Amino acid sequence: MNAEPGTRVLKADSEAIKAAAACLSAGGLVAFPTETVYGLGADARNGEAVARLYAAKGRPAFNPLIAHVADLAAARRLGVFNADAERLAGAFWPGPMTLVLPRQPDCPVAELALAGLDSVAVRVPAHPLAHALLTVFGAPVVAPSANRSGHVSPTSAAHVLADLRGRIDMVLDGGPCPVGVESTIVACLDEPTLLRPGGLAREEIERVLGHALILPAAAPTSPLAPGMLESHYAPKARLRLNAERPQADEALLAFGPDAPAADGKTLNLSPRGNLIEAAANLFAHLRALDASGAAAIAVMPVPNEGLGEAINDRLRRAAAPKP
Ligand code: TXA
Ligand code: MG
Repeated sequence: MNAEPGTRVLKADSEAIKAAAACLSAGGLVAFPTETVYGLGADARNGEAVARLYAAKGRPAFNPLIAHVADLAAARRLGVFNADAERLAGAFWPGPMTLVLPRQPDCPVAELALAGLDSVAVRVPAHPLAHALLTVFGAPVVAPSANRSGHVSPTSAAHVLADLRGRIDMVLDGGPCPVGVESTIVACLDEPTLLRPGGLAREEIERVLGHALILPAAAPTSPLAPGMLESHYAPKARLRLNAERPQADEALLAFGPDAPAADGKTLNLSPRGNLIEAAANLFAHLRALDASGAAAIAVMPVPNEGLGEAINDRLRRAAAPKP
């Protein structure tokens, strides 16, 4: 299917969902909206489809994928839930949270997608189109963010096409993603551990657990580390963090009411200083400022609470020296 020169773009409706499920069944690659970012889906059980997915993204094959399923019953067939995992799934699924669990002995996810780990990352997305696709397909779908490896994650069908047109079979266009940053990843292998801050705030998770999450401060060395390859989520332009004002040749990614007015080279994540709105705008604004051609983007400080933790994590990675 990947030999097709074109990538079909379908406005997501029930016919399109059926076509997308058929494409997945045939081993194809389908980008679809979730509430966090667009995912690039493949049949999780089909090793060849997973291999094509890695190739389309240009992704290092040691970086494992998240298996997406329609509901908790399907998630239980992939991973083993301890008491913490039960509590978190009950509180936050469907939603922008991924759980890393010990894999079931008969977990059907292809070895390649698990990158040789004994664990599996599982998510039940809340977006109605993602849910409909997973329900119609009826099996797990592995889906990394639908961008070229190392690029900024896509929050619209146009972003997906900018990175992957001609490299994947289909894009389901369901409009912009409401959350705008990737899911929060929590490992429930031993003590619950925050592997990646994301679209569900850490404070909410800790409230449900009744205690703090372990933070892998001593940066894990291997694939355990989601997006922890230092430079990640990177635009082409250099990023200068914690800037109050742009220098002459810089574009500005602003935040809050005390920012210069928006113009072609200035975009504000949230003029009213709202972190949920800022997360939803983050990747689209980074792409737009990158496209303005500026060599550097100055970024105003963003408070490190709630979704600010995920925003600052992505900004730090976008600012890290490129390999
Ligand atoms: O919001 C999201 O999570 C999006 C949407 C499409 O669901 N997906 C996403 O996938 O961000 P991706 O592949 O870009 O990031 C998933 C991260 C990777 O960095 C990977 O290292 C980590 O999850 N991961 C996957 N399996 C893991 C495992 N068994 N243990 C630890 N980390 C794992
Ligand atoms: Mg990604």
